[in-house]
Amino acid sequence: MTYTEKFEAIVREQLARLEKLKNSEPAPDFAAMDKIIIGTIDGDGIGPIIMESARKVLGKLLEDEIASGKIELRKIEGLTIENRVAKLETVPQEVLAEIKECDLLLKGPTMTPGKGDNLPNLESANVTLRKELDLFANVRPVVIPEKNIDWIFYRENTEGEYALGSKGIDITDEMSIDFKVTTDQGTKRLARAAFEYARNNGGKNVSIVTKANIMKKTDGKFLSLCYEVAKDYPEIKVDDWYVDITAANLVNDQINSNFNVFILPNLYGDIITDEAAQLQGGVGTAGSANIGNRYAMFEAIHGSAPRMVEEGIAEYANPASLQRAAVMMLRHIGFTEKAQILDDVLDLAQANLDMPGDGTGNTAADFTAFVLDRL
Ligand code: IPM
Ligand code: MG
Repeated sequence: MTYTEKFEAIVREQLARLEKLKNSEPAPDFAAMDKIIIGTIDGDGIGPIIMESARKVLGKLLEDEIASGKIELRKIEGLTIENRVAKLETVPQEVLAEIKECDLLLKGPTMTPGKGDNLPNLESANVTLRKELDLFANVRPVVIPEKNIDWIFYRENTEGEYALGSKGIDITDEMSIDFKVTTDQGTKRLARAAFEYARNNGGKNVSIVTKANIMKKTDGKFLSLCYEVAKDYPEIKVDDWYVDITAANLVNDQINSNFNVFILPNLYGDIITDEAAQLQGGVGTAGSANIGNRYAMFEAIHGSAPRMVEEGIAEYANPASLQRAAVMMLRHIGFTEKAQILDDVLDLAQANLDMPGDGTGNTAADFTAFVLDRL
């Protein structure tokens, strides 16, 4: 294919995706469901260790619901880098089919092959699942009580720089081009989710983050669509910022506690949420929700930490982040009391245990025992 043919194919594919967005499924009513299936996916590296902890904790917290059949915790195997490389599929077909039988997913970190890993150049499993399940909102809360910081990030999760992240074109040996995509439907549904959150949680401020001065088409559209949605929420105070100064503002203690809800395109959201999580105490402390209409997937914000495995210190991995994700999952299905119980115990665990992740201090098993004891 010539590069113009490649480009045409990409454009057609994106236009077809846009058509599909116009007819997406409504969200299920969890309260009315007889049974909610939660698929658990270990992932790679430290994944099995932190997921074992989460399964034990959920098993105890949801003992009655599991016994009555209202909730099923279903282990989904095969989303490992070994299996994915063997099948040469980012998410092997049979694994994806099992995933689609669940309503919710709790997912450990999965490895993404990068340059120099000597592995086939598979797309990120996260990115594939977000696209396959149409999980359009990546919701990441960051709370730092001693600084009066209560942030929540609504990161667009299926478009932007990620929509065609693995489909850039090498024009010649000396030049490559990547693409960024913004659509009305993709942006507005994200913005609406963020504004709904702001409205339902005490009229918080909303800040829109872009680089619309440079990425004039895609970020420009994103910004104006967010303001369009804002018109339906006249009581909410809205402002907008460029992503560079946002990165600075988050570490500016004079003003950072003024921010509440952020709306960001995909890549800026990726970067800014790692920064925010670090301010909260490390990427190991933050949970992350990927919300769509039919499905929702909850995961740790961090990666699979292959270095911890290589150094033989995987048992020191901090399960907190994945369990914060479980808290978000429980809230998502309306189990607010159980969510609060777990959230409070996790606060206690984080205050009492020492988990620097360098092979010293407490282990994941210590963490699990601490939490189980107090549930
Ligand atoms: C995240 C991660 C992923 C992303 C990676 C693992 C593909 O960094 O969830 O923030 O870039 O979205
Ligand atoms: Mg990230």
